[in-house]
Amino acid sequence: MKILVTGGLGFIGSHTVVELQNEGFEVVVIDDLSNSSLQVLDGITAITGVRPYFEKLDLKIKNDVKAFFKNHNDLAGVIHFAASKAVGESVNEPLMYYENNINTLVYVLQEMANLDKQNFIFSSSCTVYGQADELPITENAPVKPAESPYGNTKQIGEEIIKDTCKVQEKLNCIALRYFNPIGAHPSAEIGELPIGVPQNLVPFITQTAIGIREQLSVFGGDYPTPDGTCIRDYIHVVDLAKAHVVALQRLLSGKNDSNFEFFNLGTGKGSSVLEAIQSFEKVSGKKLNYKIADRREGDVISAYADTNKANEVLGWKTELTLDDAMASAWKWEKKIRNK
Ligand code: WQD
Repeated sequence: MKILVTGGLGFIGSHTVVELQNEGFEVVVIDDLSNSSLQVLDGITAITGVRPYFEKLDLKIKNDVKAFFKNHNDLAGVIHFAASKAVGESVNEPLMYYENNINTLVYVLQEMANLDKQNFIFSSSCTVYGQADELPITENAPVKPAESPYGNTKQIGEEIIKDTCKVQEKLNCIALRYFNPIGAHPSAEIGELPIGVPQNLVPFITQTAIGIREQLSVFGGDYPTPDGTCIRDYIHVVDLAKAHVVALQRLLSGKNDSNFEFFNLGTGKGSSVLEAIQSFEKVSGKKLNYKIADRREGDVISAYADTNKANEVLGWKTELTLDDAMASAWKWEKKIRNK
C-alpha cells in the first residue's frame, strides 16, 4: 500500500518513513527542503535499502498540491508532518506560521476528498494543553489558549480536521499529540538535523558536549519542582515513529471508534532538565558544561503524558528509555561531526 509522508525528510518524518518501510509500505515523500536536506533520503535508504520516491514540493502552492494528488490518486493514507515547528520563531513570524502550517493542511485535506481511501494522521503536540492543571496529562485535559502561534496552529489544525471529519464521512483521522521527541535512529544514519542555534534541549546538550557550543544554559533553577528545573516527557523518536505506523494501521483496518481520534504520545515519565543532563553524562561519559540561567518566557513548569489511552486503545507503548535516547543523540552528533 502506498503512503504519502509530507515533511518526510524532517526529524520525525524521516524516522517514520523508515518504520513504514520496515512494515512493507510503499512510501512517497514530499518535502520543501526548507528545514531538511536530500542527505536524509540517503540516510533512509542506507537503513532500509529502499529509496522512497521523493518529490520536492511546496504545499503552500495549491495548484502543485492538486497536481501531486492527481498523479497519486492511489494513496492508502497520508501522514502529515509538513509544518514549521520553532516556538520562539513563531512568536516573531506569526503570519509565516499561519500560512505554512494552516494553508498547507487545508490544501492537503481538500485533495484527500478526491481519494478513494482517506486515512489521515496529523502531527500534533502536547503544547495544545499549555500548563495542564493535572499531571500526568490525559487526552481529556482542556485545550488551553496557546502560548505561541506555533501551538495555536496545532490547535487550529485539530479544529479544522474535526470540522472536516463531521462532513466528510469517508475521511478518517488520528491526531497524535507528541510530548518531547528526542534522540536519533540507532544506526546514526538519520537524526535531528542541526540548522542554526538549537532551540531544543537535547541538540544543545550534544552540541555543547562536542564543543560547538560553549555552555548550556539551564533556563530556570527556581521552579516548584524537586530540583527546581522544568519537567518534560522525553520520548525516543523511534518509539514515536512506530506509533504513527500503529495509528495508520488502526485506520487501514477500520478499528477506529470514530473518524476523529487523538492520542497523547509520551513515555508517561517526567524528567527534569538536570535529570536529562545526568542521563547524558552517564551514557556519554562526558561532563557537561552548563549553568543555571534565567527562566525562558513561555515555558510550562511540568508536562508529562498519561499513556493509558495510547497503551489500551491504540495498542502502543514506548520501549526505549531516556538513556537510550541520549545515547542515540550523542552517537548521531559524533557521526555528523566525524568525531
Ligand atoms: C525542554 C526543556 C527548557 C533549551 C518544544 C515545543 C514542543 C516541541 C518540542 C515541536 C525546557 C529547557 C531548553 C536550552 C534549557 N516542538 N531548555 N536550555 O519547550 O518543552 O517543547 O519543543 O513540536 O511543541 O513546545 O522543548 O527542548 O525547547 O525545552 O534549559 O538551551 O529544556 O526550558 O524546560 P519544549 P525544549
